[in-house]
Amino acid sequence: MELLKGKVVLITGCSKGIGRAIMERFAQEKAVVYANARTVGDIDSISEELSNTYETKVVPCYFDIRDKNAIKECVMKIKAEQGKLDVLVNNAGIMKDALIEMVDDRTLQDTFDINVFSTIHMTQMALKLMKRGAGGSIINVSSIVGVRGSEGKTVYAASKGAVANLTMTWARELVKNNIRVNALAPGKIDTDMYRTTGEDQAGIKEVGMKRLGKPEEVANAALFLASDLSSYITGEIIGVNGGWFL
Ligand SMILES: NC(=O)c1ccc[n+]([C@@H]2O[C@H](COP(=O)([O-])OP(=O)(O)OC[C@H]3O[C@@H](n4cnc5c(N)ncnc54)[C@H](OP(=O)(O)O)[C@@H]3O)[C@@H](O)[C@H]2O)c1
Repeated sequence: MELLKGKVVLITGCSKGIGRAIMERFAQEKAVVYANARTVGDIDSISEELSNTYETKVVPCYFDIRDKNAIKECVMKIKAEQGKLDVLVNNAGIMKDALIEMVDDRTLQDTFDINVFSTIHMTQMALKLMKRGAGGSIINVSSIVGVRGSEGKTVYAASKGAVANLTMTWARELVKNNIRVNALAPGKIDTDMYRTTGEDQAGIKEVGMKRLGKPEEVANAALFLASDLSSYITGEIIGVNGGWFL
């Protein structure tokens, strides 16, 4: 349907999982995609394949999102090549579980560095370019546990709660610039991150639909928020959870 034709997007964490699905879906809808991944070479072939298949441009951008200079270089590159940025997807994240008494400083630091501080730095830098345009959309990837909490997820849930809150604050600050800011709050999605929980079938049965979500199903929600179909929606946290209400 070419829902993103003419739009330039930047997505973090495209090496696998939800980020990769968003990269593929957005390319399919003809966006020009700047796709971030950490390991050099990781997404070279998929980027080339998507560019050729969908007759668009998918450009790998290799950096760790904790590296502020690298973020700046990436945005400068987009500015030089495209002159604008319409959509930012803050997807990259990590999850480490611990009960409150077991939380250590390393876990706290790493989780907040990546899930929260880097999301803020990415957005600060992206806004320098986005604000020069006619408007745009920022999509943060939070989590259902960021909104509801979850036993054993003190650090991760708190970081995703921060992401949900940033979303509402930025929506208020940026509405005058015609930049919409929304978040996705996925439930149990079939990716490496979910698999590290080692959850069994009993966990999946907690979900109303009795199955895990697919990364592509989160990507479809991201597509809605990135496209003009959601032109009157800002400051929302949208669940993608198959009826898992926690
Ligand atoms: N899966 C779920 O059930 C679920 C539920 C709710 C929310 N989420 C959220 O959805 C987002 C995507 O998760 P996922 O399930 O797709 O997890 P995943 O399969 O583990 O993928 C995470 C992605 O983030 C990247 N990343 C992590 N740290 C990074 C850094 N410092 N710099 C650049 N990239 C970095 C990873 O890159 P590498 O390959 O280099 O590590 C990978 O591409 C996360 O924010 C997660 O919290 C997931």
